[in-house]
Amino acid sequence: MNFKDFSQNVLENFNQHMYNLIEPCQNEVEEAMLYSLKAGGKRIRPLLILATVKAFGKDEVTAYDAATAIEWVHTYSLIHDDLPAIDNDDLRRGKPTNHKVFGESTAILAGDALLTHSFDVLSASSTLESEKKVLLIQRLAEYAGSRGMIGGQLEDIQSENKSISMDTLQSIHERKTGALIQFSLFAGGTIAGQKQEVLDYLNQIAKLIGLAFQIRDDILDVVGDAESLGKNVGQDEKLDKSTYPSLLGLEGSYDKLEEMLSLAEESNNKLADVLKKENNEYDKEILDSFIDTLRLEKR
Ligand code: IPE
Ligand code: IPE
Ligand code: MG
Ligand code: MG
Ligand code: MG
Repeated sequence: MNFKDFSQNVLENFNQHMYNLIEPCQNEVEEAMLYSLKAGGKRIRPLLILATVKAFGKDEVTAYDAATAIEWVHTYSLIHDDLPAIDNDDLRRGKPTNHKVFGESTAILAGDALLTHSFDVLSASSTLESEKKVLLIQRLAEYAGSRGMIGGQLEDIQSENKSISMDTLQSIHERKTGALIQFSLFAGGTIAGQKQEVLDYLNQIAKLIGLAFQIRDDILDVVGDAESLGKNVGQDEKLDKSTYPSLLGLEGSYDKLEEMLSLAEESNNKLADVLKKENNEYDKEILDSFIDTLRLEKR
């Protein structure tokens, strides 16, 4: 199955599931949470969980709560990323950023609440076994925490106005963006009951996709347009951020993106071979077609 077709089939149901967990809003913080969720967003991370579950032939509906949790953590990270103290952005998902509408204090609290409630949703899920829930809760905390996404965000900020090595930049990207994508494939594989060897392959694929995703984001900040991205461009240069284009140039960044995507496809091929030998179900096209959506034509 193709990732885009799959997404079209599940997105409306999944979004409704997510909104129902907050609506009706009881206070302004909940309105602010819902504002950023309903502003749009590609839902890449939750869709990756659902698509991975589906690829193993399991019912993706059982993963809705885990998918909700990752989208909430991601949306919180965006609300905070846009604050004046971090990237100081005023456009997100095609709308004014959360703090522009609700004020900084409510925006901070809305991010906090999304993070907190993501663990509530996971632990209260009626479709996941307790053992899996504990595993997912622990991993989500780890990947989102000070050695994962937060750690990457910290070093991203500390790397403004200075030159850093390629290794450092890669490590920032692997954490600030890669970590949540690693969670997504881990969660998909775990919910589908896969063994460690399979989870290890998924992790390899996720690391490559995560890095590719942020390289692509860096490139689009240079060559993209605000209307189609739903956020202002040229922001990285404005803040003198360390990015792939700033270290490697545009041409080198396109090449690096393609390299990561090809390696991700290679890992997915290996995973498919392992599962085929064991006669285990795996629809490799789902991840392949997702990886392909990340390709960018040089311009
Ligand atoms: C934006 O993520 C932040 C990065 C990690 C690059 P997305 O591009 O997935 O943003 P939404 O969710 O679609 O708004
Ligand atoms: C953000 O990276 C990664 C997060 C953890 C939010 P960016 O700062 O490049 O994301 P955008 O470009 O604002 O979406
Ligand atoms: Mg940022
Ligand atoms: Mg930003
Ligand atoms: Mg960016």
